[in-house]
Amino acid sequence: MNTPIVDFVKKYAESGVSRLHMPGHKGVSVLGVEQLDITEVNGADVLYSPEGIILESENNATEIFKTAHTYYSTEGSSLCIKAMLAIATNGKSKTVLAARNVHKAFLYGAALLDLTVEWLYPEEAEHICACQVTVDSLREKLQLMAELPSAVYVTSPDYLGNVQDIKGLSEVCHSFGVPLLVDNAHGAYLGFLKESKHPIHLGADMCCDSAHKTLPVLTGGAYLHVSRNAPDNFQNNARRFLSVFASTSPSYLILQSLDLCNLELSDGFGVKLSKTAERVAKLKETLRTFGWSLLGDEPLKITVDCLKSGFSGEEIAVKLREQGVECEFYDRDVAVLMFSPCNNETDFECIKKTFLMLKTGRTVDRKFFKFKECVSKLSIREAIFAPQETVDIESALGGICAAPNVACPPAVPPVMSGEVITEDVIRILKYYAIKKIDVVK
Ligand SMILES: Cc1ncc(COP(=O)(O)O)c(C=O)c1O
Repeated sequence: MNTPIVDFVKKYAESGVSRLHMPGHKGVSVLGVEQLDITEVNGADVLYSPEGIILESENNATEIFKTAHTYYSTEGSSLCIKAMLAIATNGKSKTVLAARNVHKAFLYGAALLDLTVEWLYPEEAEHICACQVTVDSLREKLQLMAELPSAVYVTSPDYLGNVQDIKGLSEVCHSFGVPLLVDNAHGAYLGFLKESKHPIHLGADMCCDSAHKTLPVLTGGAYLHVSRNAPDNFQNNARRFLSVFASTSPSYLILQSLDLCNLELSDGFGVKLSKTAERVAKLKETLRTFGWSLLGDEPLKITVDCLKSGFSGEEIAVKLREQGVECEFYDRDVAVLMFSPCNNETDFECIKKTFLMLKTGRTVDRKFFKFKECVSKLSIREAIFAPQETVDIESALGGICAAPNVACPPAVPPVMSGEVITEDVIRILKYYAIKKIDVVK
């Protein structure tokens, strides 16, 4: 597989051309990468109307991911999520049906596009980040809706490694003629497992992947995938809506990284991934044998249910740090570890050592949340753009939430923008040691 963006920039950097264009560093090295940091100069193509090296590189990614087209983002999944919402609702109903554990990019996209969101709540949640949607609950909800939504939207995998039944959910969506959009920010690698678990291969119409989260790509590199089975207007509108929300100065460092990743993905990545997934599975087994309780079923993530094993997530994060390991996320209940083929033997050993030297046993029962449906007084757009103030949650009762407040961004917020703050909401926020909340003035 070729790497047209990398080749062009390398040649450009070596040419010694006088850079009478942006960026202001002119290729003079301070960080060490400036020579390779260019802008859309002659021959370097244009990200949202590509005809040259970017299109060629995206076509490589398209072939690898087996999509109708794979679009690059240098502004993460956050950009792709806003674009997905604009594409799916263009000329259609402004209502989207979404599982409640959305990332805040979804909420901001909904605010910018003035969408109405009908929420799918978790039946009973073990953690604030999880919101499993069953085939039956989705079918029932769609049957009850007076007007069908433009799209159903789920996050899978979530931050804890819970994976939704994308195949089942997409079949339900399609039986109603509604497309399924998936926030697959954590699952760019899923298509390279022995049996693909990538949402696009399981029936999703569109999804975003944060390439930078699980593939060897610089922070900010992401994909917007449109499925070969998606409605035609998805592909026709993708670039237009990506460019509505994107910067006009895409990072060529990130583009080169996405370009090089194609080479990596087409050259034995699946084999490396299988080995890593096997290692992670083995480590999970060892931890379970030693009494640790784990959550989620994502192959490259270990989520330790610390509380159930007698510790807080904070305690485990400190113990891991003492052994030279920094985890992805922790709160009072859980600690999340994310792996990739770039992790080495030492990483695995340090993690194993840390957990095996701690004695599990003082089990504490996990708290299950029953999220109550909240009442909306303002639209998401009105609440997000309204004048607001930050107040102690003690004095927020009866107020209208301006911005949701959760410990971890893609989680089920006890209350969303525009909704009324109840005693139940305050109780859950307190459990997560959240002391302040933004309310509409
Ligand atoms: C589930 C989920 N969706 C979307 C995002 C946003 O991704 P990015 O940082 O690539 O913009 C994140 C980031 O943490 C996430 O966890």
